[in-house]
Amino acid sequence: MAAMAAPHCLLGFLLLAFLILAASHQEHQESKNPAQRKLLQQPPAAAFPNPSLQAAYIALQAWKSRITGDPQGITATWIGLDVCRYRGVFCSPAPDDSCKEVVSGIDLNHGFLSGTLPEELGLLTYLALFHINTNLFCGTLPGSMAALLLLYELDVSNNRFSGPFPLVTLAMPSLAYLDLRYNGFSGELPGALFDKHLDALFVNNNQFAAQVPWNLGSSTVSVANFANNRFSGGIPPSIGNMRRTLNEIIFLGNRFDGCIPGEIGLLDQLNVFDVSYNSLGGGLPPSIAQMISLEQLDVAFNLLTGDVPAAICDLPNLENFTFAGNFFSGESPDCLALPSRGRIVDDRGNCIPNRPLQRPAQQCQAFLSQEPSCFPLPPKSFFPNPPLPCSPPPSTPPY
Ligand SMILES: *[C@@H]1O[C@H](CO)[C@@H](O)[C@H](O)[C@H]1NC(C)=O
Repeated sequence: MAAMAAPHCLLGFLLLAFLILAASHQEHQESKNPAQRKLLQQPPAAAFPNPSLQAAYIALQAWKSRITGDPQGITATWIGLDVCRYRGVFCSPAPDDSCKEVVSGIDLNHGFLSGTLPEELGLLTYLALFHINTNLFCGTLPGSMAALLLLYELDVSNNRFSGPFPLVTLAMPSLAYLDLRYNGFSGELPGALFDKHLDALFVNNNQFAAQVPWNLGSSTVSVANFANNRFSGGIPPSIGNMRRTLNEIIFLGNRFDGCIPGEIGLLDQLNVFDVSYNSLGGGLPPSIAQMISLEQLDVAFNLLTGDVPAAICDLPNLENFTFAGNFFSGESPDCLALPSRGRIVDDRGNCIPNRPLQRPAQQCQAFLSQEPSCFPLPPKSFFPNPPLPCSPPPSTPPY
């Protein structure tokens, strides 16, 4: 195989060199407008082993010119034509041509770089990994990144990005890992996000708002984190459809209301379920007792009422069950026994008789005498688009 590869590479190189010479000959025959002159200030194509590395050079130099702060001097290493030697830039053979070295990864994690991302990033067409977590980049993701057909992991977490959800990510066909957490993104999540074949989705610690799209359950993720945004409305009952893939889902610190949908009981592979710090009402759905893989269950600081049943506290893998800060009025002795089995349980701040650190009786009475705050179905306004109306009956019979 190796003996075959060498002549093949050489032939490719000669062909390329010929094309480059022909192209540059033609260029010199034409009069140059300012844009062409700017392009010609770039090193000639022949200076690069292949057009992809030339494109990468243009992209990285454009990016460097937009970096306004670089306390560790990372981009000071971005000099010369060999982009594979730049710090944070990784090259490997192209998947479609092992003779061709291309930029396949960017890893600038913890670089503390300031600036913006240029449109030229779309030139890095062989990029599989793009990791820039813990920097100070602002603005948003350039639309040209839709050209990154091989991009598999996109981690822009812990930056200063803002504006609406970056729709360009929906156009990346290979994307599996999307990490937008700890930025200033706002507005609604697009429903199309859950039609992508993602493995992990982190949108936590942004300013996303409105309802989580109703088709959440179409998602193929194993991990999803929606924590610390301003999501409201109900938790979509379609969540039950995530049974095959979902291991961990976090809704903590939002404004969800309504009931906890009984469909969560279908999630028998789920290890972590956290809906703490929301405004969920009603009782714990009895179906939780079917979530046999559950290890961490956190429903703390909601408006939940009723009893905490034995069937939940008897879940075989339950390690940590927190339901503090609700209005529960009873709990099974099986829950009280959890600590003696080395498990963690937190029942503080409820209305449970004969338990320490409960709410004042008055507060419990006042709350529990209200109408129940949970509606089994979300209000109509939940649907971003109203359900399709039935087609009207034909005005004349079709016969
Ligand atoms: C148990 O869960 C609570 C709430 O999620 C968390 O704060 C606590 O650290 C957990 N305890 C352990 C030991 O994992």
